[in-house]
Amino acid sequence: MTKFVAIISGKGGVGKTTSAINLATALSSFGRDVLVLDANLKTPNVNLHLGSPNTPITLHDALQGKYHVTDAAYLHPSGLKVIPASLALEKVDSVEPAKLAEILLDLEGACEAVFLDTKTGIDEDVEHAIRAADEAIVVTNPDLPSVTDALKAIRLADKVGVNVVGVIVNRFKNDSFDMSLDNIRDLLNKPIIGVVPEDDNVRKSIAVRHPVVYTHPDSKASVAFKELAAKLSGQKYVHSIKDSKDTPSKLHQVLKKLGLNK
Ligand SMILES: Nc1ncnc2c1ncn2[C@@H]1O[C@H](COP(=O)(O)OP(=O)(O)O)[C@@H](O)[C@H]1O
Ligand SMILES: [Mg+2]
Repeated sequence: MTKFVAIISGKGGVGKTTSAINLATALSSFGRDVLVLDANLKTPNVNLHLGSPNTPITLHDALQGKYHVTDAAYLHPSGLKVIPASLALEKVDSVEPAKLAEILLDLEGACEAVFLDTKTGIDEDVEHAIRAADEAIVVTNPDLPSVTDALKAIRLADKVGVNVVGVIVNRFKNDSFDMSLDNIRDLLNKPIIGVVPEDDNVRKSIAVRHPVVYTHPDSKASVAFKELAAKLSGQKYVHSIKDSKDTPSKLHQVLKKLGLNK
């Protein structure tokens, strides 16, 4: 059975796309068969984060009935499976967001889990994306505007009967300006399942169009995403430097400079 998980927030720019992509990448690296689907039909982001703006078949084509939804699945060089939405403006109004749930039925059994990256806000489009999911994860930043909007997103999920399994607090600095995790938990009345620190490597990874879990596996944000992925898949994850196959360790870099390692 395939589990469909909507990543929602209310407020924009809090890290929905980042979380969807990196959670799925972390799960893939643990051998789980997962996929990210861009359920943001008006202002899709996934392909922009991943540097593949021109994928020939997209979710929009599947929604228009031109292709089977699995025809729109691509393998990103990072190893992540993605179903992108079309960036073309003329396609925006050519599809019926209410059809999403129907289209997703065709993905049943295709993989273990599908993470639906959703549009910012709590409008009808977001509602359709949530309705198409089995459960939702809310992403917020540790500030009052984000948490207030997260609460509205939780209310929307409640309204359509989709369980919010928990909250990811992203860009956590743990300084005196951040809301405390206890405060956030109390306000949202949901468990905090992940705390992802503020980490410049996230921006660096987006600049090179890759998940941070792939480009900087030892970074604070990556470790947090991997810990959360392990929690979600019922695995134990203990970070070790051996995870950093793709990013040379400091020692490795020093040895390289000295000509002692290649
Ligand atoms: N943990 C983080 N640390 C630093 N910057 C981050 C982090 N998470 C996200 N960002 C930044 O925030 C921006 C918005 O994130 P994004 O995932 O696109 O948000 P949303 O999908 O909710 O609109 C990203 O482009 C990135 O620059
Ligand atoms: Mg986004």
